[in-house]
Amino acid sequence: MIDIHSHILPGVDDGAADWEETLALARAAASDGIRTIVATPHHANPKYWNYASEVKELTAQVNERLTAEGIELTVLPGQEIRVYDELLEAWSRGELLTLGGSDCVLLEMPSSSIPKGMAELIHELRILGLRTIIAHPERNREVARDPRLLAELVDAGAYGQVTTHSLLGGFGRQIERVAWQLCQKGLIHVVSSDAHHIERRNFRLREAYEKIEKELGVSWRVYFERNAEQLISGHPLENMPEAKVKETLKIWRKISNIFRH
Ligand SMILES: [Fe+2]
Repeated sequence: MIDIHSHILPGVDDGAADWEETLALARAAASDGIRTIVATPHHANPKYWNYASEVKELTAQVNERLTAEGIELTVLPGQEIRVYDELLEAWSRGELLTLGGSDCVLLEMPSSSIPKGMAELIHELRILGLRTIIAHPERNREVARDPRLLAELVDAGAYGQVTTHSLLGGFGRQIERVAWQLCQKGLIHVVSSDAHHIERRNFRLREAYEKIEKELGVSWRVYFERNAEQLISGHPLENMPEAKVKETLKIWRKISNIFRH
């Protein structure tokens, strides 16, 4: 499995506090079945600033340490970038990272609201050849109140990332309900852990995929797992299973109409 959102780097944000916690998280990830993980420390949070060059350097050190410890896990560099005024300038200054060298950037909105000009930002980033992934929209109060606001951002070209803990009820019933609702509306394209800490916020990726299979069917699990792979390998993400079903039905209707006439 691939996890595209985690706070596994040591001592740079509110995730792993030190190397010991980084290694504990890495072991937990490997035993959950994760083989590739993107380190996405907070950037412009506004408390934490983790610039591209620093993240790359620390990620390389973590990979060396994992090899030395015999932990079968590859860490790729990334960032969870808070939406801020200077974001586009920061990109042109080389301060920002995509997820694991893909064309996707992980953006974090404040939990209270959708920033003004969010759709325009997604559009501007697309012009630069970048796709926006919105980190855990289920935890945004405006999205929770009206999922159509997220649909507008998806229409503008963004993808949605839901957090395993949200799906599994770790943030309470309200967020759990919104998380499943957004999945069913086709506004979520990828599932990841946003793991911070071995006890408080672990991975639970396998458990989340199992619940998705049970609640929504195996095609949804395959869809989410494949999208994480597509993302890391730099390919466009797929449409949700029901959209595919509708497409197949449309083709089938066309064919049967041809035979009818
Ligand atoms: Fe995060």
